[in-house]
Amino acid sequence: MQKTLALIKPDAVAINATGEIIKRIQTKGFRIKAMKMTRLSLEIAEDFYDVHKGKPFYDDLNSFMISGPIVAMVLEKENAIKAWRDLMGATNFKEAAEGTIRKDFGSAMEKNAVHGSDAPETAAREISFFFSKMELVG
Ligand code: CDP
Ligand code: MG
Repeated sequence: MQKTLALIKPDAVAINATGEIIKRIQTKGFRIKAMKMTRLSLEIAEDFYDVHKGKPFYDDLNSFMISGPIVAMVLEKENAIKAWRDLMGATNFKEAAEGTIRKDFGSAMEKNAVHGSDAPETAAREISFFFSKMELVG
């Protein structure tokens, strides 16, 4: 079993897509080990996306990520990292496959509805960013 961090980004929370996204996650057989709604500060957003520091979209991405509440979840499944990225779809919502969350809810390059970790090391870092061991109760 593998764990990954999922975020429902401010754009998707704002359009009330939270419930539909959680439904798709559970229908696909992920266990939700932990979940919270929160709002990032700029300092925290910049730290979370540290890997993208210096890229042209870094500042806009952080501004967007602090623009409203987000929902953070720890998902568990076999090959959860890839399985969640498959369900999310491509980064650019215009290139995302039919039936993916980003295809259905994305609206701009940064406003692509959801986040998912991309490797075991980043998943461990990102999970501990949002949740303590004690909060993984699901
Ligand atoms: O989220 P994902 O791992 O698919 O993509 P990323 O390359 O790690 O980029 C992180 C986030 O930055 C994306 O989800 C987009 O919200 C945003 N982004 C952007 O605004 N413009 C780009 N050219 C690339 C990414
Ligand atoms: Mg990424």
